[in-house]
Amino acid sequence: MAGGIGSRFWPMSTQKFPKQFQDILGVGRTMIQQTYDRIKKIIPDENIFVITNKEYVSLSHQQLPEIPEENIVGEPMAKNTSACNLYMANKIAEIDPQATMIVLPADHLILKEETFLQKVEIAFDLASKNDFLVTLGITPTRPDIGYGYIQFVDKKGSDFFKVKTFTEKPILEIAQSFLESGDFLWNAGIFIWNVKSIHDAFEEYLPEMAQHFKACDYNSKEENNCIEIIYPKVQKISIDNGILEKAKNVYVIPADLGWSDLGTWTSVYENTEKDENDNAINQKYLLTYDSTGNIIHMKNNHKMVVIDGLKDYIVVDTEKVLLICPREHDQLIKDYVLDLKNFK
Ligand code: GDD
Ligand code: MG
Repeated sequence: MAGGIGSRFWPMSTQKFPKQFQDILGVGRTMIQQTYDRIKKIIPDENIFVITNKEYVSLSHQQLPEIPEENIVGEPMAKNTSACNLYMANKIAEIDPQATMIVLPADHLILKEETFLQKVEIAFDLASKNDFLVTLGITPTRPDIGYGYIQFVDKKGSDFFKVKTFTEKPILEIAQSFLESGDFLWNAGIFIWNVKSIHDAFEEYLPEMAQHFKACDYNSKEENNCIEIIYPKVQKISIDNGILEKAKNVYVIPADLGWSDLGTWTSVYENTEKDENDNAINQKYLLTYDSTGNIIHMKNNHKMVVIDGLKDYIVVDTEKVLLICPREHDQLIKDYVLDLKNFK
């Protein structure tokens, strides 16, 4: 899945050039390329699909030339992750109705790649033999309101657990109580299911959407036209709110992956080197005085910058935008982007 605009990571991530197509951590590969590098070890190129906005099809193709062109699928408009999951499940079911698929966000960091691949093998085994919707779960470390929280039924000695409740993006007080209870995992946003199970879940929980998608003849010449016609009618809802919060056959595999959704400036802060005052700075020409815990990101890193008395702030400077906000407001950045659209 590579159709998001990464608005919590604005102004580095923009509608024209979203974060999944950027080398955010400066490792020489973009986020989508790293996602591909990770999964190509167990899935052949012809079975890898990218689902993104049609605006990013050529960018996806440029960055992933190994993937067959017809596997890079463009959506006419952003409808969040339910629609793109159903679209892909339908395309894949048409090729192989027995297929089991893994759904990967294109913008995650996974440091423990071997563990990831082991857990994915377990998940494939489970999802191919059972009517299970399988997700990978991460032990939470802070009451982050940007994630889904999974409460599971603990059967000791198993690799996987039945999910009791799934709460997408709770408010802070609830996230705090989930964290304290110790019964919850973060949803990593990585899903494994067979195409029949996910199809049945859509029929049950998003029946109107399932009905719209039935109109199309997948992998035929008509597919594109049909998708253009149905998309405006389709509900805009995430797979987490649309399916996972409601389904009764969700299972979680706890996985210590060195995982991070590089979704916010805080997650980038946590994954970059800091100076002796805990500032994460990508800038050579910078003097700081009495300043700690800041993230300073300058697109033009030849600009001289002096910072005095600043604590726990995000400062991002691009050609067109200067953003200055407290680190604890990082989830609000997507609202600034919305407000700016109205402001123009
Ligand atoms: N094709 C397509 N179309 N992709 C999309 C769309 C869309 O309309 N909207 C988002 N995506 C892609 C994003 O690019 C990203 O790779 C992935 O789908 C997930 O979307 P996000 O917008 O990043 O979701 P999130 O981070 O707020 O929440 C999800 O991930 C968290 C973990 O990272 C949820 O699954 C949470 O429960 C989870 O904790
Ligand atoms: Mg995300």
